Amino acid sequence: MPTKIEKDAISGQMTTGHEWDGLKELDTPMPRWWLWTFYATVVFALVWVVIYPAIPVSGLTGLSGWTARGALPAEMAAERARIEPMLARLREASPAEIAADPEMRAFALAGGRGAFNNACAGCHGAGGQGAPGFPSLADDDWLFGGKLDEIQHTIRHGVRAGESDDQRGIAMPAFLSTGMMTAAQVNDTAEYVLSLTGRATNAEAAGRGEALFSENCASCHGERGEGNRDMGAPRLNDRIWLFGGDKAAVVRTIAYSRAGVMPSWQGRLDPAVVNMLTLYVHSLGGGE
Ligand code: HEC
Ligand code: HEC
Repeated sequence: MPTKIEKDAISGQMTTGHEWDGLKELDTPMPRWWLWTFYATVVFALVWVVIYPAIPVSGLTGLSGWTARGALPAEMAAERARIEPMLARLREASPAEIAADPEMRAFALAGGRGAFNNACAGCHGAGGQGAPGFPSLADDDWLFGGKLDEIQHTIRHGVRAGESDDQRGIAMPAFLSTGMMTAAQVNDTAEYVLSLTGRATNAEAAGRGEALFSENCASCHGERGEGNRDMGAPRLNDRIWLFGGDKAAVVRTIAYSRAGVMPSWQGRLDPAVVNMLTLYVHSLGGGE
């Protein structure tokens, strides 16, 4: 309940005029230092608003004309100039030379990670872990080879993209749709493929498939399904599958074929970046 503002007899300070059940509130002033600091921040804020873009209205820049966006090109140019000597070295060096030089190697791995996230992760996954149809680059199961030079060749020339005479990967025939096999023969061959990893669901069919495999498939995939890197024909006697290893996926592959495509990167990326990517992919865990 409001009462009159008066001097408190004990502390000598004024009251605020608020009273509850006989208790009165003292009007203690703010400390001086606090008040002055507060005024200073108000003045600072006003000066800031005048000089810098502080009001969120597009085009309102403040007296200095400075904007974060305007400052960016200069910062980027400075950064480019800073790393250019290193990029020049990376452009000239071979992957093996980069791997042997700790300074170049560290730079290549860091830069390669960024470039990979930009250009490659969309298909191969952020850590190169792969996805159906897009091979894992982090394991030691290689379609075309995991040595530095082999990885670089794949990146440079691409896979079945028709962009380079040195591209990777030949075409697997589509056995059903071209009439090379009947549906029953496709089924038997698929059973034989599954039997290579001990997963045949019908031993008799797998037995019939063995001859079909040897006649139609072994020239590319090897007599025991060991694969062939020169052609990019995947290994079939391990548990790593590019397009899926269950029976339906294997039948589909044999019947209609598959044709994974990757663009050629040599005309699209700075040669220094191709080198950095080579080192980075090699470091992901499966490098040979
Ligand atoms: C001319 C060579 C060639 C012949 C013949 C061939 N393949 Fe292939 N096969 C390939 C290539 C190359 C790939 C990889 C395709 C890709 O990556 O796009 C492949 C992929 C596969 C895959 C997918 C493997 C995975 O990891 O997902 C299976 C399964 C397969 N072949 C089975 C067969 C069978 C069974 C036959 C015989 C009926 C056969 N292939 C005949 C070249 C061949
Ligand atoms: C458009 C999707 C796509 C993009 C983007 C892509 N790749 Fe690929 N990459 C593929 C496919 C598909 C294959 C395998 C093709 C096949 O044989 O079926 C492949 C294969 C590879 C291989 C061969 C792996 C092996 O087992 O031998 C390497 C290495 C590779 N890619 C690296 C890269 C790098 C580095 C980049 C980024 C510059 C990249 N890829 C970007 C789709 C892509």
